[in-house]
Amino acid sequence: MDKPVHAVSPTLYGLMTEEINYSYDGGLYAELVRNRTFQDHGFGGVAHWNLEHFGTSRASMEIDPAEGPSAALSHSLALTITQADSANRAGVRNEGYWGIALRPNTTYKGSMYAKADSASVGALNLALINDNTGKAAASTETPALTREWKRYEFTLKTGEVETSSENHLLLTAGHTGRIWLDLISLMPPTFNNRENGNRSDLMEKMAAMHPTFLRLPGGNYLEGDQIDERFDWKNTIGPLVDRPTHRSPWNYQSSDGMGLLEFLEWTEDLKIQTVLAVYAGYSLKGDHIQAGPVLVPYVQDALDEIEFAIGDTSTQWGALRAKLGHPMPFHVNYVEIGNEDQFDHSDSYEGRYAQFYKAIKTKYPQLQLIATTPLKRTRPDVVDDHYYRRADEFFDDVKHYDQTDRNGPKIFVGEWATREGSPTTNMGAALGDAAWMTGMERNSDLIVMASYAPLFVNVNPGGMQWESDLIGYDALKSYGAPSYYAQCMFGEYLGNEVPTSSITGEGKLFFYSVTRDSRTGKIYLKMVNASSLPQALDINFSGMNKVTPVAMLISLSGKTNAETNSISAPTQIEPVKTSKRIEGPNFSHTIPPYSVQVLELEAH
Ligand code: AHR
Repeated sequence: MDKPVHAVSPTLYGLMTEEINYSYDGGLYAELVRNRTFQDHGFGGVAHWNLEHFGTSRASMEIDPAEGPSAALSHSLALTITQADSANRAGVRNEGYWGIALRPNTTYKGSMYAKADSASVGALNLALINDNTGKAAASTETPALTREWKRYEFTLKTGEVETSSENHLLLTAGHTGRIWLDLISLMPPTFNNRENGNRSDLMEKMAAMHPTFLRLPGGNYLEGDQIDERFDWKNTIGPLVDRPTHRSPWNYQSSDGMGLLEFLEWTEDLKIQTVLAVYAGYSLKGDHIQAGPVLVPYVQDALDEIEFAIGDTSTQWGALRAKLGHPMPFHVNYVEIGNEDQFDHSDSYEGRYAQFYKAIKTKYPQLQLIATTPLKRTRPDVVDDHYYRRADEFFDDVKHYDQTDRNGPKIFVGEWATREGSPTTNMGAALGDAAWMTGMERNSDLIVMASYAPLFVNVNPGGMQWESDLIGYDALKSYGAPSYYAQCMFGEYLGNEVPTSSITGEGKLFFYSVTRDSRTGKIYLKMVNASSLPQALDINFSGMNKVTPVAMLISLSGKTNAETNSISAPTQIEPVKTSKRIEGPNFSHTIPPYSVQVLELEAH
């Protein structure tokens, strides 16, 4: 214990995010109305919206491409009511993201843009209706519509209703006429009460992982399939009505309700730093911008984006951030240039990276710049390595970084996961992940950061584009995979230095790492037994004076590799804390099969 080999990177564990698996829309972003700007593509009709004609009313609906409340939202839903009165209303209903979750005694804040072809159309009624009983959980009315586009705000407050996601939003009118609707939004209470904010349960789950950074926006979502489908950050800030929305490479429309400022506020709410990923002129289907003059506007966009995140309020983009409600700069130390540019077979990345690197370093010498693949001509500060593997591949490669040259760039393992289990990973995957994390900890002088991917999946049918994810949810509930709990354990019991250690005679599927926190005297021994047999250990600590006789043992165990958590059995596998008596610095311990354990000792 008195011979640390190196420090543990304080930013070792973090988060990576992109719009995939309905991670934002239908996930973290608390919006309850699906296809609120009528830009989703469905099979006939208007996706996620349906007509309702009660009694003798008659109505039709269509997308009107010529009417919208803004240049960004230049089309809208036109509802034509040919027959209706106050007792026979007509309108539209929205099904939400696989339902609309309602809780008792809760206020839902809404807004929408609307206009009518005549003042006689009157007011619109908005109601939250239980799918099964037809009863309204809450309802309200707008003022009478006018012939001009106007934004209407409303609140819907539930009473003693049952908590359920089997609800829909209903908008009706009791008069004939043509009504145009757009940007119909409804928000439940959000984490930290942020306007346009995030689901609390998912924020709490992320906080429990003890992350230190968020890579945003990562993955293919940054690139887009085509250049004009990239994450064009300037289209994601400001009033929602000025955000045109865009298609994500995961084949659905992104509302961009979670834009750059919302991402940054997410990091602020979790009290973590941002690893800002900037678009670097290459998109997923192969189009790229050659380095040189044509790349200049993209480099400028990246410089503007960095200024938006960290510039003070005397700068152009820092001033805009302040105008949008956030004068304080955000915490950014790392900027990543692109995503997975090894797939750019034109080999343009060398030139593109160099051009971004020079421009960013000149203006922001304090930033560490990440390359998405190793380079020959420029020496990046950090290289981002990605690993999507089976557990066995991680077991076999746990020593991957043990011999890596320490004089080269630092490493960011910016995407990695054991891909076993669907929609979320199983115990076998948690073992693969935990084994891999022991290797990352042992090499955390080199590996400055690591983030699992993908983080989120909506488990409803059609919600998943990528199997094996960390946190699953539906409209109402969420749960962590066994891998999630392995991450929580490694993140919480991190330590700040790696002592000297060695092992002999262990089984082929046993892995460990040991770290120490020099500030508290705590020692964290992390053990992974991926075997079907128990692993007996003789553990000897030296280089310390006194060990507290009671240690804490945190255990994550499965009965098989296939055992898992799910939306209906969310905590089938979860960590269990017990205490263990320690007979001084030398003691025996047996770790059960299919288990990840952290033994926390206190020694001085
Ligand atoms: O995490 C899913 C995808 O895997 C990411 O979008 C991409 O970067 C990687 O190929």
